[in-house]
Amino acid sequence: MKNNTPLHIKIIAGSTREGRFSDKAAAWIAEEIKKQEGVAVEVLDLRDYDMPFFNEPTSPSFKQEPYKNEAVARFTKKIGEGNAFVIVTPEYNHGTSGVLKNALDWVYPEWNNKPVAFVSYGSVGGARAVEQLRLNAIELQMTPIRNAVHIPGEQYFQALFGKMDAKELFALVSKQAEAMITQLLWWTRALKNARG
Ligand SMILES: Cc1cc2nc3c(=O)[nH]c(=O)nc-3n(C[C@H](O)[C@H](O)[C@H](O)COP(=O)(O)O)c2cc1C
Repeated sequence: MKNNTPLHIKIIAGSTREGRFSDKAAAWIAEEIKKQEGVAVEVLDLRDYDMPFFNEPTSPSFKQEPYKNEAVARFTKKIGEGNAFVIVTPEYNHGTSGVLKNALDWVYPEWNNKPVAFVSYGSVGGARAVEQLRLNAIELQMTPIRNAVHIPGEQYFQALFGKMDAKELFALVSKQAEAMITQLLWWTRALKNARG
């Protein structure tokens, strides 16, 4: 019998500053993934989840009860619904943004045994932030997949300062995106089946 339940893919826009780029990259990759059959795609914009800096007495890996903070509870629920994630990350001082790392830290079991892919940008395509995020993901018991989208620095900064159209910029990485999506959906199906 055919399973008609869609794969729930959550895209996380990983920066919140005024004039940010993560919302644009998140909207673009969401549309790319929607071209696939059998997916339900949602962008989680961290601006909509105003979570405090992590301040609980214990790690979320020991947490049993739902969170009291409304934004944390809402974000955790969304992560629980996701079968896979695409993290859209900037590179701030060779790492990811504080707001994104904080969001990762707030959740634990809901991340476990699920795949994650990355879209990044910056002078070297955000590669240094992604390498750190892969290590964070392993500690969260996720599967960070190999293929990623690294938007090239020179063209990225041209687009950021309005000297290049964002559509043109994204067209440069469409092949990377295609390969990443194929691999992400493979892992999404495999791990969903494995989790039962
Ligand atoms: C605090 C801060 C630190 C940054 N550090 C880096 C960096 O280490 N490497 C890099 O390539 N770009 C760096 N940049 C430039 C960012 O790549 C660029 O501003 C990008 O648009 C930030 O992402 P956002 O627009 O989603 O906030 C930094 C920007 C900020 C605001």
